[in-house]
Amino acid sequence: MASKPLLTIFIITILMALMPKATFSIPFVVFHGISDSCDNKGVTKFTELLTNWSGSQGYCIEIGNGGWDSWFMPFTEQVTLPISVKEMSELSEGFNIVGLSQGNLVGRGVLEFCDGAPPVKNFISLAGPHAGIASVPLCGSGFLCILVDSILDLAIYSDFVQENLAPAGYIKIPTDIDGYLKGCKFLPKLNNEIVRNSTYKERFTSLENLVLIMFEDDSVLVPRETSWFGYFPDGSWDTVLPAQETKLYIEDWIGLKTLDEAGKVKFINVSGNHLEISQSAMREYIVPYLVDDESIKPRRTDSSLIWLSSLWNFFGELLGVTDKCPLLHTMS
Ligand SMILES: *[C@@H]1O[C@H](CO)[C@@H](O)[C@H](O)[C@H]1NC(C)=O
Ligand SMILES: *[C@@H]1O[C@H](CO)[C@@H](O)[C@H](O)[C@H]1NC(C)=O
Ligand SMILES: *[C@@H]1O[C@H](CO)[C@@H](O)[C@H](O)[C@H]1NC(C)=O
Repeated sequence: MASKPLLTIFIITILMALMPKATFSIPFVVFHGISDSCDNKGVTKFTELLTNWSGSQGYCIEIGNGGWDSWFMPFTEQVTLPISVKEMSELSEGFNIVGLSQGNLVGRGVLEFCDGAPPVKNFISLAGPHAGIASVPLCGSGFLCILVDSILDLAIYSDFVQENLAPAGYIKIPTDIDGYLKGCKFLPKLNNEIVRNSTYKERFTSLENLVLIMFEDDSVLVPRETSWFGYFPDGSWDTVLPAQETKLYIEDWIGLKTLDEAGKVKFINVSGNHLEISQSAMREYIVPYLVDDESIKPRRTDSSLIWLSSLWNFFGELLGVTDKCPLLHTMS
């Protein structure tokens, strides 16, 4: 009869060993794209799903009043606003960043420029115009857009446009590099293109992981390879250089090469147009970096996780719900 309590203890021990360890997980912050706002259904759902799946709390940080300010507030100012990250006690132990499109540059600004902010651990970038864009983001045909286009045609790098139209802060015309370096107020600073500020480089290099997600059919970012820090060579529209062949990488202006050589940069290529990420891709490429558990991070070696994820995909496909479900519509 003594075998019963023994059996119970045995079962309990096994169950406890199988139970996931309770670990403290750091929160993440979502910076949204142009025309978007934290109240939009797409962004809200995106943040909520990531929170639910990772078990880490997510916060969407608003830029000014949302949509309007994301277009018309100068970039240098957009970056100073989320410096409220310093005042959020929830983030004091450090946080991860999830950037959506233009929001990636806000996120990088917070990382590189913000003195005394808590540490940023992982940076997950979806369709970030990191190396610039060579045309205005698709705006549409409304009155405002026609106005925007004609202002831009006039003088992208003039003080007026730089101070009144956010995307002008990261438009890099390959055949007008002089104008860009002299007039563009934001990206040359962020990418250490003129003054090589070692503080910015140090902060960027301190990331534990940089996940760069490019959308294979991205028709908004020109070129789409800017999501991987690839860009046109100076003076030409003919080819797109992969990140590793750009001066920013070779001369290691911001530490991208250092990070890459340490195996900390993941270049991810997913199907879909701008920000059209499927739920299965979110689980595969974003969630593992938000879960602050050392045993889970190296996914390659964790077969149980891969098994779980394929099980999820299998049921998802069976129900026809997970894949090809664009969550975010930042451009209309
Ligand atoms: C996230 O989880 C909460 C609580 O279980 C649930 O109410 C909510 O609907 C979930 N969100 C999404 C987008 O699935
Ligand atoms: C580099 O950036 C830091 C932090 O913003 C600043 O204190 C310093 O003056 C800058 N150095 C140069 C050379 O611009
Ligand atoms: C992205 O993946 C597609 C196939 O899935 C491939 O055709 C394409 O060349 C890839 N792009 C890059 C830059 O690796």
